[in-house]
Amino acid sequence: MTVKPYSLMIGIATHIPVLRRLTGLKTGGTVSSRYCYSVWLRHLSLLRRSGLPTTIGTLVELGPGDSLGIGLGALLSGVEHYIALDVVRYADKATNLRIFDELITLFEARAPVPDDTEFPLLRPPLESYEFPAEALSPARLQVTLHSNRVEAIRAAIEHADETTHRGPLVYIAPWKPGVIEPGTVDLVLSQSVLQYPPDLEGLYCEMCDWLRPGGVLSHEIDFKSLGLTVEWNGHWSCSEVLWQLTAGRRRHKSNREPHSAHIALIERTGLRVACDERVVRPSGITRTQLARRFRHLSDQDLTTSSAFIQAVKERAHEASDGQIMSG
Ligand SMILES: C[S@@+](CC[C@H](N)C(=O)[O-])C[C@H]1O[C@@H](n2cnc3c(N)ncnc32)[C@H](O)[C@@H]1O
Repeated sequence: MTVKPYSLMIGIATHIPVLRRLTGLKTGGTVSSRYCYSVWLRHLSLLRRSGLPTTIGTLVELGPGDSLGIGLGALLSGVEHYIALDVVRYADKATNLRIFDELITLFEARAPVPDDTEFPLLRPPLESYEFPAEALSPARLQVTLHSNRVEAIRAAIEHADETTHRGPLVYIAPWKPGVIEPGTVDLVLSQSVLQYPPDLEGLYCEMCDWLRPGGVLSHEIDFKSLGLTVEWNGHWSCSEVLWQLTAGRRRHKSNREPHSAHIALIERTGLRVACDERVVRPSGITRTQLARRFRHLSDQDLTTSSAFIQAVKERAHEASDGQIMSG
């Protein structure tokens, strides 16, 4: 059996409400300012490498987790409005303020991006971990780290819980569809989140609606079984019944969608994939072990353990295949 007996036991135990509440108490990474700095600068560096805009008005982050540090790094890089959406309210003011102060120090020092030695599991990898001076020049940092601006962000952290607050930062958790005005967002970002939402199709439609023309999605997605099975991709061998028992009523459970499902949904919403970097790993299971729902998986899906995907909502003249431009 590919499911770990301990995971199955926990999954069954989560049907007792008091035990369910003990799952997903913390999310991990974003309690560290260096982790947040590294994640934000990786997304920013790859925007630049993909030829996408790095000057961003409004950023929405899905699933910030234990702190809003990734978005605070974005604000310190010049983003004007940051909206954090989570299904659970994990981040608190004290942690956000601590991370914010630590991030200021990192940006002022133009510290290199923390690499694989410090965060071996963090994706996506970069070609260079030097501070991305092309995207964040000294002149730009002088503006983005100006004391008035920093104090305005600090004040916004104090008021982040108020959905009516019109400052640079809003934190909405739990969030519901319809919270973001359509056509107002430049960048929707997430790190290790999109493997969870059960209604991926609805979520991609919603994200596409939020984007203004030229707006971008930037998502790092983990396709592994998140430790519930012996093999990294053993979840694709579990029948629906076995998976429901094993994942149980954990607060966060994998939707088990493979890489190709994300690409198909992005393309169906009419966005153009600008970057698709897959981390490839030998499959831990054979094709004959695949559960019925996953028999269609390609060899590429079966060996893609994570991916970093950026996609852009083309402006009308770009999407019309040159007809307007040539007219
Ligand atoms: C593995 S944690 C990642 C946290 C953080 N991004 C990081 O890099 O450490 C997954 C996060 O996604 C959130 N999440 C799951 N489904 C979500 C959804 N539909 N919308 C927004 N956040 C979601 C969880 O509550 C959690 O905060």
